[in-house]
Amino acid sequence: MPEHHRLARTLSWPHLVALGVGAIVGTGILTLIGVGAGKAGPAVILSFAIAGVICACAALAYAEVATMIPASGSAYTYSYVVFGELIAWMIGVALILEYSLVVSAVAVGWSGYAAGFLERIGMALPAALVNGPHAGGLVNLPAVFIIWVVAGLLIAGTRESATLNAILVAVKIAALALFVAVALPVFDSANFTPFMPNGFPRSGAPGAEVGVMAAAAIIFFAFYGFDAIATAAEEAKNPGRDLAIGIVGSMAVCVLIYMVIAAAAIGAVPVASFAKSAEPLALVLSEIGQPWAARLLGASAVIALPTVILAFFYGQSRIFFTVARDGLLPPSLARVSSRGTPVRITIFTAIVVSVVAGIFPLDEIAALANAGTLAAFVAVCAAMLVLRRREPDARRTFRAPLPWVVGLGGILGCLYLFYSLPLKTQVFFLVAQAIGILLYFLYGQRAGRRARAA
Ligand code: ALA
Repeated sequence: MPEHHRLARTLSWPHLVALGVGAIVGTGILTLIGVGAGKAGPAVILSFAIAGVICACAALAYAEVATMIPASGSAYTYSYVVFGELIAWMIGVALILEYSLVVSAVAVGWSGYAAGFLERIGMALPAALVNGPHAGGLVNLPAVFIIWVVAGLLIAGTRESATLNAILVAVKIAALALFVAVALPVFDSANFTPFMPNGFPRSGAPGAEVGVMAAAAIIFFAFYGFDAIATAAEEAKNPGRDLAIGIVGSMAVCVLIYMVIAAAAIGAVPVASFAKSAEPLALVLSEIGQPWAARLLGASAVIALPTVILAFFYGQSRIFFTVARDGLLPPSLARVSSRGTPVRITIFTAIVVSVVAGIFPLDEIAALANAGTLAAFVAVCAAMLVLRRREPDARRTFRAPLPWVVGLGGILGCLYLFYSLPLKTQVFFLVAQAIGILLYFLYGQRAGRRARAA
């Protein structure tokens, strides 16, 4: 491999768990909990459990496959090895939707807390500059701003960013602990009835889908991010052990945290009062008469949410990097600068994701990011099962327990969540895949062949 295409090995497992929790805990629990509560009512807590279990299956499959094939590019690379170039290309498209739209979605979530925080300290921004055109505004400027700050960090160098990330993850966890400590004492079980006002399966008109599963399909956003660790494989000092600890450990921690937060939020106030907020957890705290805690939570979200943007932005540039290195995108895009970071890819990514974040509403961006992630997870679960059959004796640093239950559970669960997404999202995802396949036959296939021949 030419030197300018090789990434430096600088990360060990504490960095990876921090990268994992940094990527997982974010806009899902801080903001989409409101969207989920609006769709499912108090039963959003069930939505959390369902999405968490499905995501845990995918996490286990990920850990097994990632430690067998430790290379940048995560599900794209695994699909390339197991299913070949065309499926890999389709998963590449799904992953690009996932990573880029998570960056956009979390930037919009950040903007909600940043604007709320400024308002609470008497420095409100004009509404036209914190909302996209869908909400009568011009552009979501804080969302665009934070994306460029994170892009700058990544260009400055992976190692520095990972250390800063670890500190900010601690701030984020402390803020969530504060939320529970303040909200739990006013817990009222009456807020849990009616528990399931909109029923269980996805129902309702297109564009207004409700029910526990419709909420789970959105809330799913809150659980992924551990796969950002797998994309760091080429930069891990000891990929076999470190990746397994990083992925499974950060997943388990997050499932636990969310169940507690959701129970505390719903117990504190009726769900309708925070369902539509751009900063629901801060709103819960001010509704129960604790404005100081709302300010503190808001400030912590503002300084800590960028860790999620950072992890996904990092993953995104590594996916582009790997696809370009395989020759399916122009290889010049994969050039690494003298600091060991892919600068061109980072700037290209920042332009795309900041345009999306500046214009579109959070729930729509998050739903499409979920569609991409679900497709990637199906591929990873399938890859694990195929490899178990095809190479039963291959060395596995980490073996998923009950592989057929985990693998099939992951595949079927992800398909059911995909089915529960808004109709509009499903159509958009399929159109993106159709365009991707067209591009593959027009350009990617030949480029890949040339790269292999070279
Ligand atoms: N799980 C990440 C979040 O909730 C994507 O922000």
